[in-house]
Amino acid sequence: MIIAIDGPAGSGKSTVAKGLAERLGFTYLDSGAMYRAFTWKVSSSGVGFSDKEGVYKLLADTSIRIECSADGSEVFVDDVDVTREIRHPSVTENIHHISSLEFVRKKMVELQRDFARGKDIVAEGRDMCSVVFQDADKKIYMDADIKERAKRRHSELGTLAGEGSLDNLIEGIAQRDHRDSTREHAPLKREPDALYLDTTSLDAEDVVDILIKEIQKEQQKN
Ligand code: DC
Repeated sequence: MIIAIDGPAGSGKSTVAKGLAERLGFTYLDSGAMYRAFTWKVSSSGVGFSDKEGVYKLLADTSIRIECSADGSEVFVDDVDVTREIRHPSVTENIHHISSLEFVRKKMVELQRDFARGKDIVAEGRDMCSVVFQDADKKIYMDADIKERAKRRHSELGTLAGEGSLDNLIEGIAQRDHRDSTREHAPLKREPDALYLDTTSLDAEDVVDILIKEIQKEQQKN
């Protein structure tokens, strides 16, 4: 069974996807971690983000491995553990250079489908419903008010350097929303067959409870 969850930054999808995977005994897939991993590799390699040919060559030479559990994701680039490094604000700021490239997305889609093969999974990202798992058993689009999303990001980033003020976070999230939803390839969008959930006034456990009921309905149908 494949459960696909999309939504903007801070909509609660990571916490909910992990909680859901744990409750259902499914494997959790954090697709954003893969884009973060390659962005980290590009910035640490000295290849410029605008050097598409250099980025293309680097991608062919890069192995990305992800081990996701309900505790989170462990991410390895060329067998180096970069789990912590990929959450750094400099990766978040530069990721759009990488996630907008069609050849990068093609490779990530392959990696994500390979990861899911033969497993029951809860996958979260921006194009899980629209591209990667178009035939998912359940599609979900999670959203929340931007101020609430910034507050969530703020508490998540608390221990990392350079997190900035709440106003800076709101500005950064608005910019990222705009980039993610207007890019040419696989933009973030709400699919007509996805269940829409506004999580502004819900905590993650409430959302997991709602989704478990929805998934049980789906399982009864099959
Ligand atoms: O979910 P996240 O914040 O870790 O994602 C980081 C960035 O990666 C986000 O700005 C957009 C991009 N991303 C994407 O383009 N497609 C996905 N399936 C997941 C993430």
